[in-house]
Amino acid sequence: MHLLIPAAGSGRRMGSQRNKLLLSLLGKPLLSWTLAAAEDSQHISWIGIMGQKEDFPDFQAILVDLSLTKPVELIQGGATRQESVYNGLQALPPDADRVLIHDGARCLATPDLFDRSAEALLGCQGLIVAIPVKDTIKVVDESRIVRDTPDRSNLWAAQTPQGFEVKLLKQCHAEGREKGWEVTDDAALFEKCGLPVRIVEGEETNLKVTTPVDLSVAEFILRQRNK
Ligand code: C5P
Repeated sequence: MHLLIPAAGSGRRMGSQRNKLLLSLLGKPLLSWTLAAAEDSQHISWIGIMGQKEDFPDFQAILVDLSLTKPVELIQGGATRQESVYNGLQALPPDADRVLIHDGARCLATPDLFDRSAEALLGCQGLIVAIPVKDTIKVVDESRIVRDTPDRSNLWAAQTPQGFEVKLLKQCHAEGREKGWEVTDDAALFEKCGLPVRIVEGEETNLKVTTPVDLSVAEFILRQRNK
């Protein structure tokens, strides 16, 4: 199965001048951990990484260091995650039938999570990895007044990997561009096009490293795993 890794973001919310995926996590760039898990997954056979051109030399150095056995392609990213994934989809080899998309920033995803997602994707058109929310979620207006409290038993927090039939996701991205939809994950495009998205149980530790606190938590989790 093919895997696309959006890795073309910045380190703004991390308070960093450079791409947060190049920050050090237990002595290795964050992206190395994501790639190592993809390498260890049984089902992934090809990896495309979407990045900004200025980060390519660092990405190349990571690839040399990891000496991955799977083919890897570096793909020009876009101004938004949505645009980066669009570019990634255009760069997939012609034989790509189904694709997993996994944020480079989710560096704690396990090989087992990739494999469970890949296996589930063989039986459906689209899926996301997600976990039930633990907090009570509030819908808040611009004046910071709470407008609604949705029933928590129906709420799931979306993670990645997300997986799709390539042909359908390409169509959804094309429609999204045409209609000016701005979304933060690929499933949202699938949903807007009226296509079904299945849930695969995610991992509580599969956090998206976004802020300095996330980086410290990720370090703690990796230390525990490596004990
Ligand atoms: O910013 P955020 O953490 O939500 O980004 C999620 C993922 O999308 C990250 O792995 C980031 O590198 C990637 N991204 C991208 N292209 C952008 C912005 C974000 O590939 N223009």
